[in-house]
Amino acid sequence: MVGQLGHPRQVKPLRLGVADAGEVLTLQRAAYVSEARAHDDFDLPPLLETFAEAQAALESCLSWGFRENGRLLASVRLTVTGHVGLVTRLVVAPDRQGAGLGGGLLLAAEAAAPPEVTVFRLFTGSKSVGPLGMYAKHGYRETHRTPENNHELVHLEKARVP
Ligand SMILES: CC(C)(COP(=O)(O)OP(=O)(O)OC[C@H]1O[C@@H](n2cnc3c(N)ncnc32)[C@H](O)[C@@H]1OP(=O)(O)O)[C@@H](O)C(=O)NCCC(=O)NCCS
Repeated sequence: MVGQLGHPRQVKPLRLGVADAGEVLTLQRAAYVSEARAHDDFDLPPLLETFAEAQAALESCLSWGFRENGRLLASVRLTVTGHVGLVTRLVVAPDRQGAGLGGGLLLAAEAAAPPEVTVFRLFTGSKSVGPLGMYAKHGYRETHRTPENNHELVHLEKARVP
């Protein structure tokens, strides 16, 4: 499994659900500290999400993750509304970032999305240099910005390639 994760695009993502909420929340809080520091805002929604809210989210959306020897290394959520797939909460364990897991899971979630999805949307903070670079690398283009506390949210979109 370790070797396979060196090539994350070749690893099938695991579906995550309500039973994974505790691990997802722990991973999410660890991962988002860097974004909180970048934006000087420790009240980012991913850091404030409660266990009950995480359970409810995982009940209602699609979610996938990568595990290695049981440890959850990365997770992502996809909420489908009509033909739109909204990608949220893409996170990778801090000690495993920069090795392709985040991009690999993003592409895996796109591939696993229901057939009615023709466009993927997501948003990230304007000071999220790493995520903005990663999303651009994977074909996402900015559509607009909205104000958010002391920064902006950058909204991005990518058409699904049939
Ligand atoms: C964003 C996140 C999911 C990316 O996962 P990852 O496994 O580290 O990313 P990958 O290794 O797949 O991709 C790295 C790519 O990101 C981009 N990137 C990363 N840091 C960057 C930086 N400082 N400047 C520009 N681009 C950067 C590059 O395109 C890089 O590709 P390259 O290695 O070919 O140069 C992860 O860093 C994370 O969990 N961050 C905290 C939570 C978060 O911000 N999530 C996104 C919310 S919208």
